Amino acid sequence: MTPPDIDRVLFTAEEVDARIAEVAAAIGERYRGKDLKLIGVLKGSVFFLTALARRIEIPVKIDFLAISTFSARPGSPGVVRIEKDLDEPIEGQDVLVVEDIVDTGLTLRYLLRTLAGRGPNTLGICTLLDRASRRLVEVPVEFRCFEIGEHFVVGCGLDHKQLYRNLPYVATLRRPDS
Ligand code: IMP
Ligand code: MG
Repeated sequence: MTPPDIDRVLFTAEEVDARIAEVAAAIGERYRGKDLKLIGVLKGSVFFLTALARRIEIPVKIDFLAISTFSARPGSPGVVRIEKDLDEPIEGQDVLVVEDIVDTGLTLRYLLRTLAGRGPNTLGICTLLDRASRRLVEVPVEFRCFEIGEHFVVGCGLDHKQLYRNLPYVATLRRPDS
């Protein structure tokens, strides 16, 4: 049953699954013969990362990190901090950071800078959703499943106050700012 707060389904579970399979195939081609590691950013990317990894037909390693963002003053840009670091080094590996959504790009810019300092062979981004219209800093997104507009969305890992991550579709909320 659809939760009452859900307004409009943007991408159905079938559409999400089909698109993930396409992107997984592209990743498999790009990284064939390489030492691919998917890095998930907790918690939002977990659902997308596992769905993606199941469809990738080359060997992959998986690791996770958790970050928090806080503002020194209300309205000032967020400062990003690593709350849980990767378990393993990434030196010499082909790393794909897997995200639920790239919005302003600030989180990823920080992450990419940090990870680049650890000497990976390559470092790329794969995101379920790309909201390019809100980008404040340029980040290289190699793989994206869907572009979306301004609306706040939930499902497929994306939450509102920690709810709705488990919805198998991407949808807008009836009261996004409550
Ligand atoms: P940014 O690219 O640094 O602005 O950060 C993007 C992060 O903000 C994502 O990883 C999400 O956790 C969160 N976020 C941005 N837009 C949405 C949305 O529409 N729904 C849920 N979370 C969002
Ligand atoms: Mg996130």
